[in-house]
Amino acid sequence: MRARLDGAVVVVTGAAMGQGHAHARRCAAEGADLVLGDIRDGELATLAERLRADGTRVLARHLDVSDGEHWRDLVDAATAEFGTVTGLVNNAGIMSHGSVLDETPDDWARTIAVNQTGVFLGMQAVAPVMRAAGRGSIVNVASTLGRYASTVGFAYQATKGAVRMMSKSAALALGPAGIRVNTVLPGLVDTPFLGNSRDTGALDDPIGRTPLGRIAEPEEIAAVAAFLLSDEASYVNGAEIVVDGGMTAGSLRSLKPAVVTS
Ligand SMILES: NC(=O)c1ccc[n+]([C@@H]2O[C@H](COP(=O)([O-])OP(=O)(O)OC[C@H]3O[C@@H](n4cnc5c(N)ncnc54)[C@H](O)[C@@H]3O)[C@@H](O)[C@H]2O)c1
Repeated sequence: MRARLDGAVVVVTGAAMGQGHAHARRCAAEGADLVLGDIRDGELATLAERLRADGTRVLARHLDVSDGEHWRDLVDAATAEFGTVTGLVNNAGIMSHGSVLDETPDDWARTIAVNQTGVFLGMQAVAPVMRAAGRGSIVNVASTLGRYASTVGFAYQATKGAVRMMSKSAALALGPAGIRVNTVLPGLVDTPFLGNSRDTGALDDPIGRTPLGRIAEPEEIAAVAAFLLSDEASYVNGAEIVVDGGMTAGSLRSLKPAVVTS
């Protein structure tokens, strides 16, 4: 059987670790050529070597997603190497830790720059190349925290909510050029992003409210993105896919059924 991403050239941001690492491995397994970007050059090079050893064509570049010049260099290098770009996983992201009362201006600005401006710059950088190819699929990674509020991570939540609307707006603008834009909203995923939150017990409550009773493996997010990148999702555009084990399916999950008395 033909691999689902044979002939695809996919850019993955934040590929050096966590979910980006899983996206890269999954796209490679599905037959894509890869363009990997991250600010962690050493880990990125290690991943690229590993994938090349398995026969995947890989271009690895230093990329700070908040820097438009980096994006232009990356897309130029990708087209020089592979002729085109047909997929983008805007995955790189950082957490902010304050509430509306104590988020610092620096933390706010950096979080917006990476999580929100980075997604904008990425879409804007690849769209002309995809339009020339007549096809493209962009997957933007938001979060359930872009849909449901928490007291901490004020800037983070602002960016993830924004990414959802940015994806929909881009889906309208780019659809006529054959470019689909969709959003994935992970719940909790087992990556370095979670820091020591498991040890402190901070995840006990959300895991307790997750019907599947656990957090996700990064590969479970990568599987959904691979579907969206592939032609199997050829009519999926402007959509949001929540991948959270059911954590946000219903806040009234334990409400007793109403008793009918008459
Ligand atoms: N882990 C979770 O529980 C979770 C839940 C929901 C959403 N998300 C989102 O999923 C995405 C991936 O998160 P993760 O869990 O893999 O996080 P992670 O911290 O494990 O990995 C993030 C990667 O992004 C890279 N990165 C950070 N800033 C960058 C920049 N300016 N330019 C390029 N690369 C940069 C890091 O070097 C790292 O390789 C993020 O957008 C995150 O917000 C994560």
